[in-house]
Amino acid sequence: MILAVESSCDENSAALVSKGAVLAVSTITQSVHLQFGGVVPELAGRSHLELMDERVLEVMRIAGASIKKVRAVAATTGPGLVGSLLVGNNYAKALAWSLGKPFIPVHHMEAHLWSAETDEHELPLPFLILLVSGGHTMLVLVKGLRNYEVIGSTRDDALGEAYDKVGKLLGLPFPAGAQMDILAQRGNPRAIDFPVAMRDDSFDFSFSGLKTAVSYALRDDPSLSTPERMPDLIASFQHAALSSIELKMRRAVERLKPRALCAAGGVAANSELRERLAQIADRNRITLAVPPLKYCADNAAMIGYLAEKLLSAGLHERNFPVRPRWPLTELNAIATTY
Ligand code: KG4
Ligand code: ZN
Repeated sequence: MILAVESSCDENSAALVSKGAVLAVSTITQSVHLQFGGVVPELAGRSHLELMDERVLEVMRIAGASIKKVRAVAATTGPGLVGSLLVGNNYAKALAWSLGKPFIPVHHMEAHLWSAETDEHELPLPFLILLVSGGHTMLVLVKGLRNYEVIGSTRDDALGEAYDKVGKLLGLPFPAGAQMDILAQRGNPRAIDFPVAMRDDSFDFSFSGLKTAVSYALRDDPSLSTPERMPDLIASFQHAALSSIELKMRRAVERLKPRALCAAGGVAANSELRERLAQIADRNRITLAVPPLKYCADNAAMIGYLAEKLLSAGLHERNFPVRPRWPLTELNAIATTY
């Protein structure tokens, strides 16, 4: 049984994982940031300090498990907010040391990469995965553990960031993505013709121009932010943003011929995105795997799931430092040892 903690941003989470199955997970989204319209790093770190022990006790209680059964302790080591990472890492390292068990450092985005397997069986390799969160938008070909090829990424804003910025323009609370998903379902995606960016041959994305186009549309016609017209505006924004994602993914599937198509990260919860990916997978007769909604946003279950894989491969190191910035591709170089 692996005990894992996640504290890279504003989700405080702990989980118990054994033989690929999630025994218990407990996640709290910090509320201290609500009044600021974004995550305040200093407050995030302090809040993790207050919440972490509670989460760990909670998963032990849910699973009816004893701490003596824990064979390794894992924590998100990066990328993320340095103060927040330190809280989770120091907690996990101290616990591992006191139990005389290994500490497993986990890369947050690598955990998202494999999160489509949680609650599922092992995915066929290679698989193509879209990592979409508030901080990242990447298209990655996964050929195996520590064998990742980033084939495309955003040149400016992350997709979740674009949702949140448009939400802010409309006066919606942060983060706005989940609420915009629901509002878009009532709107007409063709009401406003927003540009689909990056129709070029690369697998890269760009969303800042779209956000600017939305702000100009609102400036020219403020009635677009009224409750009656807002669903049309959001549906049109979403149509443009997801058309660009779909275009690139469709091409990537044709060229790279992956055996499965996946998405992970907070925006992978989006219903329209899931539908579009299902269509691509269906047309190409390949497996579609997206994590259950509860594992799309940041959580410790994905940290524990990957930690178990890493432990089996002998990839653990008690003295590994936190890495607030940590490119995913650097992991390929540490395929056998830290
Ligand atoms: O992965 P995540 O929980 O945190 C990090 O950014 O690391 O992703 C949060 C992002 C936010 O930008 C939020 O607005 C977006 O995911 N999001 C969504 C949906 N649910 C969350 N965006 C679109 N549709 C959703 N259903
Ligand atoms: Zn994340």
